[in-house]
Amino acid sequence: MFNLRFAKDYLLHRLKAKNRHGVHSPFVYRLIDNVIYDFDPKKVYTDVENIRETLFNDTRIITITDLGAGSHVNNNRQKKISDIAHNALKPPKLAQLLYRLVADLKPRNVIELGTCLGITTLYLQKASPTAKIYTMEGCPETAKIAKETFKKGEINIVEPVIGNFDDTFPGVINDIDQLDFVFVDGNHQKDATLKYFEWCLPKVHENTMLIFDDIYWSTGMKEAWEQIKAHPQVTVTIDLFWIGLVFFKPGQAKEDFLVKI
Ligand SMILES: C[S@@+](CC[C@H](N)C(=O)[O-])C[C@H]1O[C@@H](n2cnc3c(N)ncnc32)[C@H](O)[C@@H]1O
Repeated sequence: MFNLRFAKDYLLHRLKAKNRHGVHSPFVYRLIDNVIYDFDPKKVYTDVENIRETLFNDTRIITITDLGAGSHVNNNRQKKISDIAHNALKPPKLAQLLYRLVADLKPRNVIELGTCLGITTLYLQKASPTAKIYTMEGCPETAKIAKETFKKGEINIVEPVIGNFDDTFPGVINDIDQLDFVFVDGNHQKDATLKYFEWCLPKVHENTMLIFDDIYWSTGMKEAWEQIKAHPQVTVTIDLFWIGLVFFKPGQAKEDFLVKI
């Protein structure tokens, strides 16, 4: 049963995962110490969370076009914006971690697969205001609400790329010389995840960071994560349970780090 399997995976992760102690890679140690475990409050967190609050109070109903693996919570096509805000967005703790990872990386380009209501996009843009942001969404009505979110967050320059990732992602990759930061947060299915990963490979470089969401969401996602980790181009991976970070650093011993957050 899904929930039992997920709970077991979570407990196993908690048992096996480390904090910064016991991590011998200087690169990973610094990332954990300076970025992952930076729990200082920041003004941007309050600004974005105030906008999330407006979505929690938004009772409008929209029609969902679901091109992905669907939801474990509610598979109705008609959804209230407040319900989407509660069920589909990265929670503050993870969205703020993404903010810190991007602020630390200083990418020239940022790609998000799965805009939804645009809350995480706000964090990504504010972490890297000079980067070119590409955010992709398959549901036009959801993307419309994301545009309202961008307006509230004063990032009118970001325009969601609307359509199925299968159709839109190749064009976005083609537009960019080298991929700096990619966050895959939609269509959590094994084959799709592996396909998006493989599409990225020709354009990754030594400082690229790929992040996959929900790596324990299903048996298929766990298998996809295993294959990504095992790929010969991948050196370091950091498994935070909710998300998995992938790096291609030459000279680093291949290692998967399980880290508690
Ligand atoms: C989990 S939500 C993204 C949440 C968002 N990143 C955040 O944290 O604020 C996933 C989104 O991906 C979109 N999606 C799923 N599969 C897709 C596909 N194949 N093509 C385009 N969009 C897709 C869904 O419509 C949904 O809005």
